[in-house]
Amino acid sequence: MNRIPLLLIGIFLAFAAAWLGLVAYPVLVLGNLQPETDADSGDVSPPLLSGLAVAGQKVYAANGCVSCHSQMVRPAYLANDIAREMAVENGNEPDSDLNLRQTVARDYLRDQPAFIGLQRIGPDLANYGLEKRVATLSEIHRHLYDPRIVSPDSIMPSYRYLYSLREISGQPSNEALTGLTGPHAPEPGYEVVPTEDAKVLAAYLLSLKRNYPLSEAPVEPTE
Ligand code: HEC
Repeated sequence: MNRIPLLLIGIFLAFAAAWLGLVAYPVLVLGNLQPETDADSGDVSPPLLSGLAVAGQKVYAANGCVSCHSQMVRPAYLANDIAREMAVENGNEPDSDLNLRQTVARDYLRDQPAFIGLQRIGPDLANYGLEKRVATLSEIHRHLYDPRIVSPDSIMPSYRYLYSLREISGQPSNEALTGLTGPHAPEPGYEVVPTEDAKVLAAYLLSLKRNYPLSEAPVEPTE
């Protein structure tokens, strides 16, 4: 008996089921997501990114930061991201005023592309811009210039090429990196200043705050 038609139908059904589940269903459910607007305050969630942050997103993509950093907070029933997010990273106590919550598809509407990430070789950066977490702008620059200055055992690569060493002419620049000591310190008469790429990358990192309200992702209480 010739069973080839049956085999072909079987193959077709297998592919059709995969297409329905992996393509059609997600597009139907997530394809038309729009930002939410608060009826009282008029606030839009997720908020628009500043021009600098959009430029910084491209530097983030170009430098492969996503290969080590995720931007996704897992729900409390799956993982302890929310409970330890703040506590571990900067030695702070968890703070329920931060309104931490899991990230959902709508959080990535402003991202081109979405840096969800697959690995956490470094810490998750979904909420890196929250005031409690970031120390100062100059610390961000010092860290990118050489992570070992801020975190001695860090395996993060140094992004020194995003900074330029230049001779001080007249007054030192107020953008020059401070706290560069030992082998990192520029010679007297020289200073290290961030390039445009480093400045927009820092602006992008500071924009990473995913604690605005969304109806499908209520804030989960921290212990
Ligand atoms: C090889 C993996 C790797 C790559 C690539 C990488 N990082 Fe990191 N990153 C780490 C590790 C590990 C840490 C934790 C140790 C430390 O603070 O340096 C870290 C820490 C950080 C922190 C501090 C996080 C905190 O909670 O204090 C920031 C910000 C950061 N990285 C940004 C970046 C940016 C921006 C890029 C791309 C330009 C990048 N990283 C690329 C591994 C990486």
